[in-house]
Amino acid sequence: MGPSHGFWEGRSKSDLTKAFHYLLRHGAACIDTAQAYGNGASEQFIAAQLKFLSREIPRERLFISTKIMPGPTDPEKLVLKSLRRLHLDWIDAVYLHWPNYYIDQFQYLEKLTRLVDCGIIKTIGLSNYTSQEAIDFVGRFPISLFQRPISLAWSKDLEADRAFCSRYNLTLVGYSPLAMGLLASQRLDYEDSRKDLYCLQEPSRQAFKALLKALGSMGLEQSAAALCWAARKADMLVVGSTSLEQAKANLCSMQASLEPEEMKALDELSRKLSVTTSRQSFLHEPPCAILRTC
Ligand SMILES: NC(=O)c1ccc[n+]([C@@H]2O[C@H](COP(=O)([O-])OP(=O)(O)OC[C@H]3O[C@@H](n4cnc5c(N)ncnc54)[C@H](OP(=O)(O)O)[C@@H]3O)[C@@H](O)[C@H]2O)c1
Repeated sequence: MGPSHGFWEGRSKSDLTKAFHYLLRHGAACIDTAQAYGNGASEQFIAAQLKFLSREIPRERLFISTKIMPGPTDPEKLVLKSLRRLHLDWIDAVYLHWPNYYIDQFQYLEKLTRLVDCGIIKTIGLSNYTSQEAIDFVGRFPISLFQRPISLAWSKDLEADRAFCSRYNLTLVGYSPLAMGLLASQRLDYEDSRKDLYCLQEPSRQAFKALLKALGSMGLEQSAAALCWAARKADMLVVGSTSLEQAKANLCSMQASLEPEEMKALDELSRKLSVTTSRQSFLHEPPCAILRTC
């Protein structure tokens, strides 16, 4: 809903609105956004739609989370900015969007914890932290969410993340479970920023093609098969739907299931793909330049 960095440009506002209304009216309850999405456009869009739906969907039924980019700006100031944009008095969760080693993250989390203590934030989440990067913070601060990319196109460190979350009682939230749409079709050509994703480049492309072929032969809609796999790995999934048809298909796919041998075959294809890259991030390397200045 908030185009950024060449992703999700030019999507129809009317299609997004229909998808959003359908999902909320049919039981989806978790809304994931960030200050960085369209530089606030996503938060503003959500506020407008929640106002429109307020008679049908009580606030208490929803779990709304946003993300702030840790930097020199006081976190309280950032959180209040999001609350103003979202037209909320309190929010279920605020994530640190990316780790930032140019600031004192302990002090930063202490300041956020004060907002938890006074009820403005219900819980804190870490996004894009590895378990090694997060270990010093969990247990010391009221952190209960751990958000990572989880899809067949990105299963690196997944087992370690699952073990970490289970040990520290964290909810493992999986983002981009369709690899930004790449797992939902047999397409390999994209014009937007998805064209640069590692799985479409050599030496990963062949392993990715094999994965798509297998996904297309599971007897389910391809997107449903990819979502089923991811739903078995994460405690909670955040899925992007940019049209009513996608919203319907994605919600429906939550009823589908894969056989154990199908899961195993997909695990293996995902593993073969993961060893083709030495990258540490699905999207891009941590945006250090942005973190230093924001
Ligand atoms: N923490 C982080 O740093 C981070 C990073 C990325 C995302 N996220 C969160 O995760 C959410 C989901 O991630 P995402 O949108 O990047 O990726 P995603 O859920 O893997 O993919 C969404 C895209 O897949 C396509 N799609 C969805 N359903 C489909 C269907 N049934 N059939 C065919 N195509 C379908 C659409 O692409 P088209 O629009 O091209 O049709 C859609 O925009 C985001 O909205 C965001 O809240 C968090």
